[in-house]
Amino acid sequence: MSTLKRTKIKTLLAMEPGQQVLAKGWVRTKRGNKQVKFIALNDGSTINNIQVVADASLFDEDLFRRITTGASLAVTGELTESQGSGQAVEIQAREIEVLGECDPMRFPLQKKDTSLEYLRTVAHMRLRTNTFGAVLRIRNAMAFAIHKFFNEKGFVYLHTPLITESDAEGAGDMFQVTTLDLKNIPLDKKGGVDFSRDFFGKKTSLTVSGQLEGELGATAVGEIYTFGPTFRAENSNTPRHLAEFWMIEPEMAFYDIKDDMDLAEEFVKYLVQYALDNCMDDLLFLQSKYDEGLVERMRGVTGITFERVTYTQAVEILEKAVADGVKFEFPVHWGTDFQSEHERYLVEKYFGKPVILTDFPAAIKAFYMKQNDDGKTVRGMDVLFPKIGEIIGGSEREASLEKLERRIDELGMSRKNLEWYIDTRRYGTVPHSGFGLGFERLLLFVTGMANIRDVIPFPRTPKNAEF
Ligand code: 4AD
Ligand code: MG
Repeated sequence: MSTLKRTKIKTLLAMEPGQQVLAKGWVRTKRGNKQVKFIALNDGSTINNIQVVADASLFDEDLFRRITTGASLAVTGELTESQGSGQAVEIQAREIEVLGECDPMRFPLQKKDTSLEYLRTVAHMRLRTNTFGAVLRIRNAMAFAIHKFFNEKGFVYLHTPLITESDAEGAGDMFQVTTLDLKNIPLDKKGGVDFSRDFFGKKTSLTVSGQLEGELGATAVGEIYTFGPTFRAENSNTPRHLAEFWMIEPEMAFYDIKDDMDLAEEFVKYLVQYALDNCMDDLLFLQSKYDEGLVERMRGVTGITFERVTYTQAVEILEKAVADGVKFEFPVHWGTDFQSEHERYLVEKYFGKPVILTDFPAAIKAFYMKQNDDGKTVRGMDVLFPKIGEIIGGSEREASLEKLERRIDELGMSRKNLEWYIDTRRYGTVPHSGFGLGFERLLLFVTGMANIRDVIPFPRTPKNAEF
């Protein structure tokens, strides 16, 4: 092979014709006739393929038998102006090396069935498809944009632990972490599990949120964000829930609930705009294949101001809707937690734009939220998005030591395991706020995919943890 350096296809497609180039990638399709073959080559750098044109007389007949969909190639040749439509340049092949053959009888992506359901059954190979290439590139762009956004604002990226003893959300749906022998569990005098014999000497689990540790960071360096995997053993088999998902949790000292909402709104708009500015090829591909309203829906959230309503106002709207004949699967009245059908009614039907809900009944929210003076509600906020429902959950935090301790007791939670957290209120407590953005929920919105299993490379859901 020549001494040329490989150029990525994304770069090649933007280059001027007339140069010798080396491209490497996987064959998407091969067509042609006895005289000339056309090979569409993709290397994952872009949704677009480069067309390789091979004059059959220059190559061994056997070569083209080995070039099948999925095979990997190294192609050297001249970058020329393309005769066909659809691309500006193509490669007139001089040398073609098959790096790896791909048996057409066995290759799982050879099948006519390219449905997302089928691809989930061959999830180890689905990353090779155009769809997952596009999703992975958008996912990467969003991760980068998140770090960029917070860096430009001077936030500190805080690494919070994945193994923890605290159930931050108080929902109790945690995955336990243990090295105890499950066939021979040591018991204490009362007959309970003797966790002092476990690896950490106490009961530990995978984190459901980095928030509580995030508050330690925010009350030290002012503004932090976390961005990491989060684990929830809730048995919800829905298109919006994963057992392992990624969450971004900013936490800010001296922010009240209004500052919190302003930041959340600015943040999601920034991310959607970043995708529009940097991922248009992939967006247009996904739009053409899965969701014709994608780009318009994305543009729709960047240019407008989100609606802000209290939970109580939202209940009134929903109750009126029911009275007017709107049918919901789940009942709604003051005190219930909204289901995604309610959230989507508010966003898609009633307001026609993203909605930020605030001031929820204390009973349906976590212990750390700031208590309002009415004695019934807390200063939480949820950002609701079209097609998704809840994309962000957050709150102003209860900064008063006394009120926080009272709430912990009311809920029957153990103060002992939370002393480290309560110390933030003992020593120089400050008003502070934060929120959590579900990374895959955001990706549902910016890819148009309908199922959360299709926006994460290796999904974990009940009864499914392959690879
Ligand atoms: O509303 P949640 O439970 O809030 C918290 O965890 C807070 N500690 C955040 C904070 O204030 N720092 O979760 C936050 C977001 C949700 O709005 C949703 O987008 C996402 O995380 N989320 C999930 N995403 C995928 N699968 C699941 N099972 C999810 N549970 C929550
Ligand atoms: Mg929530």
